[in-house]
Amino acid sequence: MTVPDAAPAVPATGFYAGRLSRPGAVLAPMAGYSDAPMRQLAAEQGALWTVSEMISARGLVLGSEQESLSLGRPYPGEQGRAVQLFGADPDVLADAVGKAEAWFAPAAIDLNLGCPVPKVRGKGGACLLQTPEVAYALVRAMRGATGLDVSAKIRLGWDENRSVEIAQGLEAAGAAIVTVHGRTSAQRYTGHADWDAIGRVAQAVRIPVIGSGDVLSPQQARERTRQTGVAAVMIGRGAVGNPWMFRAMASGEDTLPPAEERARTALRHAELQHAFYTTPHRRDPSRLHVASMRPLRKVLPKYLPDQPDLHPALHQVETLDDVRAALAPLLDAVAPV
Ligand SMILES: Cc1cc2nc3c(=O)[nH]c(=O)nc-3n(C[C@H](O)[C@H](O)[C@H](O)COP(=O)(O)O)c2cc1C
Repeated sequence: MTVPDAAPAVPATGFYAGRLSRPGAVLAPMAGYSDAPMRQLAAEQGALWTVSEMISARGLVLGSEQESLSLGRPYPGEQGRAVQLFGADPDVLADAVGKAEAWFAPAAIDLNLGCPVPKVRGKGGACLLQTPEVAYALVRAMRGATGLDVSAKIRLGWDENRSVEIAQGLEAAGAAIVTVHGRTSAQRYTGHADWDAIGRVAQAVRIPVIGSGDVLSPQQARERTRQTGVAAVMIGRGAVGNPWMFRAMASGEDTLPPAEERARTALRHAELQHAFYTTPHRRDPSRLHVASMRPLRKVLPKYLPDQPDLHPALHQVETLDDVRAALAPLLDAVAPV
């Protein structure tokens, strides 16, 4: 009997394979944005899955960074969320995977190989694209620490495009999928994402490739998928204040709801923010630390790009009542009589 040369086909099992069996788009990890409230709204509109903001593996393992715990905490009943970790040490990442799995109930674990910010440089993120063999060792260590799917999110390279070679290495290391943001780290967010390069990666590996970069409309998302053969498109900035991007990709229903409904969803975002971040004081649990709406100042106006008159008030919200007051002209228009 002859042994076939080709490696066996990658079994279509696991979390990502299951989710990719239906149409839709993925919510991108975005520090400062893709927190529990944003993930909940995206999931409700049919996002294939969502990804947490990046979390320091070392912070999780040392247990000293309260921030890491807050970044990973799921909302009640959250499903279909990958937790994204960054780090550069295989043992620390393996430990962090165990902690993330125990504390955050993730559906999968993603490794950040794309963050260019100085805070992360030297500690993981995109700088590992210069030494991809370290990245492969991280994926192997993470795989050894969990039965969940492990994936990686890369840029095209550090300052040159090495994405095909790196994606093949990640595949060999056991990554279940690879997400490619079509820019080098040196480019940060300038210029345009190179979807031809993303397409070359999709053709060069057998695992599913998710494409990321500059997708602002459902039409664009479909075009990119057709052009490149990616398994799905990931949407980041284009989904801020627009969870209906996911409904459009899941169901083909492209229409944006009227302003009144978008205002109701903006208020709901604020209510979810209030519920998730209002927590007992650490020193005196009988008192509540009430969530501020300040982090939503950059988000709420995006729900209503066609209502510039409301933006000044939305840019100044501090409390949930401020959000209600700012949206009142639209909310009152649909209040039951
Ligand atoms: C504010 C912001 C924060 C981001 N944070 C992360 C992150 O934590 N992890 C990550 O892998 N990518 C991060 N990204 C990159 C996005 O996931 C995405 O790949 C990139 O923004 C391109 O997609 P877009 O044009 O749809 O936003 C971030 C992007 C932005 C704009």
